[in-house]
Amino acid sequence: MTDLKPALTVRDLAQMKARGERIVTLTCYDALFARLLDDSGVDVLLVGDSVNQVLAGADSTLSATLEQMIYHTKIVARGTRRALVVCDMPFLTYQVSPQEAIRNCGRVLAETGCRAVKIEGGLTMAATVRALVDVGIPVMGHLGLTPQSVHALGGPRVQGRDTATAERLRDDAKALEDAGAFAIVLELIPAALASQITKALSIPTIGIGAGPACDGQVLVLHDMLGLNEQFNAKFLKKYAALAQDVRDAVTLYSAEVREGRYPGPEHSVN
Ligand code: KIV
Repeated sequence: MTDLKPALTVRDLAQMKARGERIVTLTCYDALFARLLDDSGVDVLLVGDSVNQVLAGADSTLSATLEQMIYHTKIVARGTRRALVVCDMPFLTYQVSPQEAIRNCGRVLAETGCRAVKIEGGLTMAATVRALVDVGIPVMGHLGLTPQSVHALGGPRVQGRDTATAERLRDDAKALEDAGAFAIVLELIPAALASQITKALSIPTIGIGAGPACDGQVLVLHDMLGLNEQFNAKFLKKYAALAQDVRDAVTLYSAEVREGRYPGPEHSVN
């Protein structure tokens, strides 16, 4: 007998919102971390296209490819038993037409073992969301600072501070809900606006830099573990300082190798 809980589905997230239970979400890019996060009870593992920056060293998400996302989503799903695995669809794999979106998102679902996809955009993507949902592909939306539009937005800036953009974001959120999205990521928007949107929707909101009222929170794993020292946004809380732990461990290993102290007799075979 194991105490294994069944894998979460998009319906479970809707029920969590209805019960007022917060949805714990983290990005994840590989099987090793997937096992650790899953064991720790994280509800949603988002295979973010941020992998292109965090692991691959690019300066934006724009050059992430479908093959790259399929590879990372497959290995995350391999390490996951309970959490809902969501694949972030890369730039230009869903914007060109609903048909191309169905082909690419369908391929992701069929090949990786994930149970949902995430796409960026509001009203302009509503028809695509509807087309995906109609063929059985669960879709998470993403509004506010949408990194694939970083150049159009003039950089990684807070969205929705003025009345017109706040109004547009409220409309975008409603359009995604009406089109059948099962949840919406709200990135870098004022806490009061995120609260209004969260209250107005029956589907859950997952915030990142969007204050405490969202139905769940997401952070980039490597940022919150203090592994990625380059990223220090105001909303980020670092729960560990692993970059320094790595440097300390590697410095000690180097010294022990150079001084002939590692391997000792206990690490040697006869
Ligand atoms: O790519 C990503 O990691 C994301 C999250 C920050 C929401 O989209």
